[in-house]
Amino acid sequence: MKFQTKVTDPTKIEADLLAIFAWEGENNEIILSESVKKVDRQLANLLTDIIANEQFEPKKNETILLHTHGKIPSSRVLLVGLGKLNEITMVDWQNAGAVIARNAKKIHAQNVAISIPSEIISLLKAKPAGEGITVGLQLGYYSFEKYKSREILTSAFAKASADRSAGRDKEIKSVFLVSPTILDTFALGVIEGEIIACAVIYARDLVNEPSSVTTPTYLAKLAQNLAKQNKQITCTVLSEKEMKKIGMNAILGVARGSDEEAKFIHLIYQESPSHKASANRRKTICLVGKGITFDSGGLSLKPTSGMDTMKMDMAGGADILAIFSVLPKLKPKVNVVGLIAATENMPGGSAIKLGDVVTALNGKTIEIMNTDAEGRVILADALSYVDKLDQKPEAIIDLATLTGACMVALGEEVAGLFSNHNQLKEQLLKQANISGEQIWELPLVDLYKEELKSEVADLKNSTKSKYGGAITAALFLSEFVPKDIPWAHLDIAGPAWAEKDTPLRPVGGTGFGIVTLLHYLLSF
Ligand code: BES
Ligand code: ZN
Ligand code: ZN
Repeated sequence: MKFQTKVTDPTKIEADLLAIFAWEGENNEIILSESVKKVDRQLANLLTDIIANEQFEPKKNETILLHTHGKIPSSRVLLVGLGKLNEITMVDWQNAGAVIARNAKKIHAQNVAISIPSEIISLLKAKPAGEGITVGLQLGYYSFEKYKSREILTSAFAKASADRSAGRDKEIKSVFLVSPTILDTFALGVIEGEIIACAVIYARDLVNEPSSVTTPTYLAKLAQNLAKQNKQITCTVLSEKEMKKIGMNAILGVARGSDEEAKFIHLIYQESPSHKASANRRKTICLVGKGITFDSGGLSLKPTSGMDTMKMDMAGGADILAIFSVLPKLKPKVNVVGLIAATENMPGGSAIKLGDVVTALNGKTIEIMNTDAEGRVILADALSYVDKLDQKPEAIIDLATLTGACMVALGEEVAGLFSNHNQLKEQLLKQANISGEQIWELPLVDLYKEELKSEVADLKNSTKSKYGGAITAALFLSEFVPKDIPWAHLDIAGPAWAEKDTPLRPVGGTGFGIVTLLHYLLSF
């Protein structure tokens, strides 16, 4: 999709679809943007008639699509509701963008014009509005149709999606019509929104791709390619042999049941060498991702109903690759390290058995009591690895589709946040709130550490208790976080995968966490 921001009269522009906005005032009165009023006059009061007949209310996500019958140059008009004026946030702009995209897709619009109601956007809010609506438009258009043959696609909707996958959606042009006052600031938001959405789409594609494609070796190649394409990124990939040499026996234990070789991916983003002096003074944030490219459960095999979506168990790792793919364009003023522990969890003949003991990189021993609790085992090595970094990071944030228990606690839309550091926690909650990704704090209950005690090793990887599984998993991870580094753990088991279609995301991988983390990195 191509974006443009300019100052043009909405009644003069020729588009396949012209989106215009209405909202509710303080006393629930309906307010029409100046562009709606202009268009309405040209359409012989069609819009005001519709509103008077209560066929449209300007609530959030409400739309009505109308033919213009040649009365204005654009062939169709989409009236979009924004809800209450004083409550319109960046998330509302995302949703508005997504519903516009869904409508545009439905009617196969190639040229979309969106008349931004500048009268309600202060200069301060122009950038988030530009970002939000641009992100929404791109995510609203998103679908994964790579494996559907074009011939059997019946709806125009599905065909448009197939076109996107084939790169043909580049032909779709969106133009934002704004007032001169906010033009430049809004356009900056659009540029940022394009980049951020690009990252989310990168992650969605990766999660939706079958696990036979997205093997650990494939993820490692993607990481190496990012380094090849950007001089600000360097990448080291540890093979199983190299992991063995330094003592990453926890990942290797999980990998034993699989024919695919495990990989440990170490990415570094640093401003280009010419700016090295300032780059060296910068803080480093370390992102750690669970990259189980398929979680069968291992010998503690999952039933089919729990296994069918388990290609998504590398969503944390996919998020990190996606974030790195846009860092050179976003240029945050912080160095970023990305660590991805990538392996399959399979029940092959050499698979790790219940009762086996592995020694993680930090020397702690783990008794395997359930091979399906593999995420925490691979993250034990990945978190310990932080101690080996050249520069001690300011913070470690791990992303992991870690526990079904977190979904029991918070449902499918909300990620669990655990942290040993209040400031880091508050920063993440703040950025999530701005980004429209829902995260909720859960406690690291010290008392429950008892449950992780093993008869034969330092820790066991799963507890006897049926309760508090998200917490005990997080407590397990905390045992491997190097001392004195602020750490946050995001259990994204629920929101990393969507079971229901909404305008911002179809069923499948969501890229959850990326918008929040990119905003977090940009906040430095
Ligand atoms: N990958 C799963 C967690 C998961 C479940 C992610 C559903 C997304 C959707 C993880 O490896 C797992 O199987 N966890 C077990 C832990 C248990 C055996 C202690 C779980 O949650 O049941
Ligand atoms: Zn598992
Ligand atoms: Zn898993």
